[in-house]
Amino acid sequence: MKLNPSLVKFCLLLGSVPAWLPAQAPDAAVLRISADQVAAHVSPMLYGLMTEEINYSYDGGLYAELIRNRNFKEDAKQPVHWSLVQENGGSGSMSLDPGQPFNDAIPTSLKLTIAQAAGAQRVGVANDGFWGIPVKPDTRYRASFYARASAGFKGQLTVAIAGASGGAIHATARVGRITGQWRRYEVSLTTGNVAPSADNRLVISTGSPGTIWFGLVSLFPRTWHDRPNGNRQDIMQLLADMKPAFLRFPGGNYLEGYTLATRFDWKKTIGDILRRPGHLNDSWRYWSSDGMGLLEFLEWCEDLHMEPVLAVYAGFGLRGGVRIKPGADLQPYVDEALEEIEYITGGPATTWGARRASDGHPAPFPLQYVEIGNEDNFDREPGSYDGRFAQFFDAIKAKYPRLKVVATTGVSSRVPDVMDEHYYRRSEDEMASHAHDYDARSRSGPKVFVGEWATRVGEPTPNMSAALGDAAWMTGMERNSDLVIMSCYAPLFVNVNEGGMQWRTDLIGYDALTSYGSPAYYAQRMFSLHHGDVVVPVAAQGIPTREWQPPPGRAGAPGVQPARPAPQQVPTLFFDATRDSGTGTIYLKLVNRAGAPQPLRMEIVGVTVEPKGRAIAMSASSPDDTNSITEPRKIVPVTSDVDGLGASFTRTLPSYSITVLEVRGK
Ligand code: AHR
Repeated sequence: MKLNPSLVKFCLLLGSVPAWLPAQAPDAAVLRISADQVAAHVSPMLYGLMTEEINYSYDGGLYAELIRNRNFKEDAKQPVHWSLVQENGGSGSMSLDPGQPFNDAIPTSLKLTIAQAAGAQRVGVANDGFWGIPVKPDTRYRASFYARASAGFKGQLTVAIAGASGGAIHATARVGRITGQWRRYEVSLTTGNVAPSADNRLVISTGSPGTIWFGLVSLFPRTWHDRPNGNRQDIMQLLADMKPAFLRFPGGNYLEGYTLATRFDWKKTIGDILRRPGHLNDSWRYWSSDGMGLLEFLEWCEDLHMEPVLAVYAGFGLRGGVRIKPGADLQPYVDEALEEIEYITGGPATTWGARRASDGHPAPFPLQYVEIGNEDNFDREPGSYDGRFAQFFDAIKAKYPRLKVVATTGVSSRVPDVMDEHYYRRSEDEMASHAHDYDARSRSGPKVFVGEWATRVGEPTPNMSAALGDAAWMTGMERNSDLVIMSCYAPLFVNVNEGGMQWRTDLIGYDALTSYGSPAYYAQRMFSLHHGDVVVPVAAQGIPTREWQPPPGRAGAPGVQPARPAPQQVPTLFFDATRDSGTGTIYLKLVNRAGAPQPLRMEIVGVTVEPKGRAIAMSASSPDDTNSITEPRKIVPVTSDVDGLGASFTRTLPSYSITVLEVRGK
C-alpha cells in the first residue's frame, strides 16, 4: 500500500486541519471530516441526463410507438418491416405506392391488393415492430391508421395483435366500412390473461377482394402520465427514480447529422405526427420517425421535473464538409435557434409561443442553458467555431440576456458562461486516474458542464468495474461542484436486441418487453439521490493505491511506435462528503475498488454525531459482474440501518463496493 502524494496534497489543501496526521494501523485508511465547514456549494443541477437518438433510444426505446416504419419512409423502394399476410388460400400483393401519396410529408402509401379472399381466406399487411410487439396480460393498446379503398370494396378490416409465426391472436377488433377517401380509423385492442411475449406483430387484414391504401399506421400501449404520443412507462420509471435535474437534448451527433438535410431540423419535428416527415439519422445509421420531436422532449422534461438544456444546431455537419461560414450564410441558422428558444419560452403572443400553444402546450417551459452545437473540436478549420459561436452568442444574449450560453470547445472571441467537456474512458483505472482532475482547476474561467462521460467497460451496458470507475469520477465532480455545475452520462439508452446497439456501454438496456438499469445506473442513482447542498472538507491518510499502466498514445508517423507512458499509482479508495445544511445529515460517498475489504476509520469533527445512521451500499463479487435483460437486478444498492456512529468510528467497506453513509450531525 502506498500513500498517493497528490492526494495528500489535495487533502491538505481542502482540509482546514493541515496539522492532523494521527498514528494509524498500516492498513487502515482514515478520513477526517470537518463537518462544520464548507469547501464549496453543491450545484442543484449537478446530476442530469443526456439523450439523443442512438441505439434505438426513442424509436424502439423510450418513445412508446410500437409500429416500425409507420409512414413507410424508411426505405424508398420497399415497405421494410411490413409483410404480406395470406391465410387459408387467400392471395394478394403489397407494395409502396408513390402514385397515391398520403400527404406532403409522406409522399407514398402502402398498397394492399387482395386478389383472392372468400370464406375463411384472409389477406392483409403485418408489421413486426421494433424486434417484436410486446404483449402483456390484461393490457389495452390503441391502434390507429389512415386508409382508403378502391371503388366497390365492401369488406371489413380486422386489426389484431398476433403471434409472429401465426396461430395465437392476443387481441383483435373490427373496423367498419373503408371509404374511397383518406380517413383515420382507431380501435382499442385489449389482451386477456396471456403470457408476456414479444414475438408478435400487428396484422390488418380482410376477407374481401379489392385494393386498400394505408397511410400512417400506429400502435400505442398506455404511456407515462397517459400522454398522447408519449413515452414507455417502465423506462420513464427508471429515469424518474434517478431524480435527474435536467435533460440535455437532442444530441450529441444526432443534433448535427452528416449533412444539412440530416441534422435535427426542429421545425420538422413539431405538430401532428401525420405531418412529420422523419429523417435519416445518418450519425447512427437508421431512420428516425421524429415522433420524439421538440415538444415531446420538453414534455418529457416536464413529466420528470427536469429543466431542458437545449443544444442548437450550429452550422457544422459531421461529414461532407458542412461548415457554414459565419456572417450572412450562418444567419438563417442563428434565426432558427432564436425561434426554437421562442417556441420553448415564448408567451402565446409570440409567433413561436403561439405555435407551441396550438401544438397543445400553452404554458412556456423553463430554460436557462443553451448549448451551441456539439463537440466542435471536431471542426478542425481554425477560427470556424470561434466565429460561429460568437454569432450565436451575440444574438442569444441580445434577445435573451438571462440565458447562459454553453460552448462545446475552447473559444477566444467571447467568454462562454459554461464549457461542455466530454470524457469517455477506456478502463476503470483510467477513469479513476482522472477523479482528482478538477481539484486543481482554476475557478476563474467559465463553469464546467460534463455533458458526456462514461467508463466504457461492458456491453451493451456497463458492468461493476465501470460503475466503480464512474463512482470514483463522481466523487471528483461532486467535490468540485462549485465548478462542475452539471453532469450527464452518455449514452443513456440501448435496445439490447441484435442490431440495436451502435455505441457500446450504455446506461439503461431494454427490449420490447422489459428494461433494466446497469450497475453504473444504480451508482448514479445513489449519487443523485443522496447528497447535501454543501461540500465538506475531508482530510485523508493511508489511501491505498494500485499500479496502472496507461495505454499507449495514438500512433504517430508510419512506422513510429506510440510512446508507452509511465505506469501510475491510482487510488483504490475514493470519497467525498456533503452536508445538508437544513437537516444536518452528512453524506459520505465511499468507493472501494479493491478486491479486498477496506477498513476505514472516520473522524468527524465540528458536529455532534448521532449513533444511528443509514448505509446505501452496492457491491459485487467480481468487477465483471453485471445486470442484463435476463438478470436485471443482480447488482443493486441495499439500504440498511447502521448503529455505533460517533465522532470516531471504523467501518469496513466490502470489496468492489460503492457506499453512501448517511450520518446525522447536530
Ligand atoms: O455519446 C455518443 C457520442 O459521443 C455523441 O453523440 C457524441 O457527442 C460523442 O462523440
